[in-house]
Amino acid sequence: MVYNFNAGPSILPKEVFEQAAAAVLDFNNTGLSILELGHRTSAFQAVMDEARALVKELMQLDDDHEVLFLHGGASTQFMQVPMNLLDDKETAAYADTGVWGQKAVKEAKLFGKVEVVCTGKENNYTAIPKDFAVPNDATYFHITTNNTIYGSQWQKIPATSNRLIADMSSDIFSRVLNFNSFDLIYAGAQKNMGPAGVNLVVVNKNILGKIKRPIPTIMDYRNHITEGSMLNTPPVFAVYVCMLTLRWLKANGGIAAIEKLNDAKAALLYNEIDSNPLFKGTVAKEDRSKMNVCFVMDNAKLEEEFLAAAKAANIIGIKGHRLVGGFRASLYNALPVSSVQVLVNTMQTFAKSHA
Ligand SMILES: Cc1ncc(COP(=O)(O)O)c(C=O)c1O
Repeated sequence: MVYNFNAGPSILPKEVFEQAAAAVLDFNNTGLSILELGHRTSAFQAVMDEARALVKELMQLDDDHEVLFLHGGASTQFMQVPMNLLDDKETAAYADTGVWGQKAVKEAKLFGKVEVVCTGKENNYTAIPKDFAVPNDATYFHITTNNTIYGSQWQKIPATSNRLIADMSSDIFSRVLNFNSFDLIYAGAQKNMGPAGVNLVVVNKNILGKIKRPIPTIMDYRNHITEGSMLNTPPVFAVYVCMLTLRWLKANGGIAAIEKLNDAKAALLYNEIDSNPLFKGTVAKEDRSKMNVCFVMDNAKLEEEFLAAAKAANIIGIKGHRLVGGFRASLYNALPVSSVQVLVNTMQTFAKSHA
């Protein structure tokens, strides 16, 4: 048994792996592998339809919000969003809450003006900025709801009259939000939704078609909507595994039920970090991420030793990102509470042996 705390690609439910493995050999008794199935077949059309319908149902989306599965990873959305929404004379507002937000800013500048309305840079992104204003005439306001590298998360989505765009790559489907209040949400699949190789895009169709720039066919969201997310060959296997993961989420009570478990996992680990004399959290308490828990040791010399102890306990993926150091434990939807308990036990045993 391995306890997988990887930041992404990351743990998915065991039954999803089993079903995906079976479909590689024989998809739904067709005698064909899912890997050799034409994307225009009725068998795959049913997969795409179910995947999109499950997103709509789980996120309780209204009829204005369209669901797309696109190629390119979340990084493609850093440019596809402004290419579709920001004219070159217009200004978009961005919150800089870490590496991913900065990358989104860099791409947006290729298409129009960008105003960074808040930044966590001065305190090395250990907190979510609180006092800032978004100009009324900003075409949209972009946030990164969960900062995978620094372990911070917007616990309350900022109220804004502007169109709201969110990179939800690392906390999609982890907590109940009013998803209809967002005009565009995007997320790489490889944390809470499925394997790497596909993006989820949820877009309010009413915000499209408002700019003058010609948009390449494959980059224009409207074409993907018209074609039912089948403008070209979709990443068939990745969409299939997302569909299986979404089925699993629905069968386990949906987002509200998984949020309770996510809260319990995060509380268990943060309580240990706060009470164990050897460890300390890196992020302001009110902004702590429930998906990526970042922590360090007072005595940095012990960190290698703790990593070795974790490895001996079959805990993998907790080495922190190089920008933060220390440790990062990712507690995505599919990670059971029992795995967090193993990590907590390992921290306690380590502390006792170094008392
Ligand atoms: C919040 C966030 N946005 C964007 C990305 C980039 O995703 P991709 O590698 O799919 O382009 C990541 C990757 O970890 C992420 O965590």
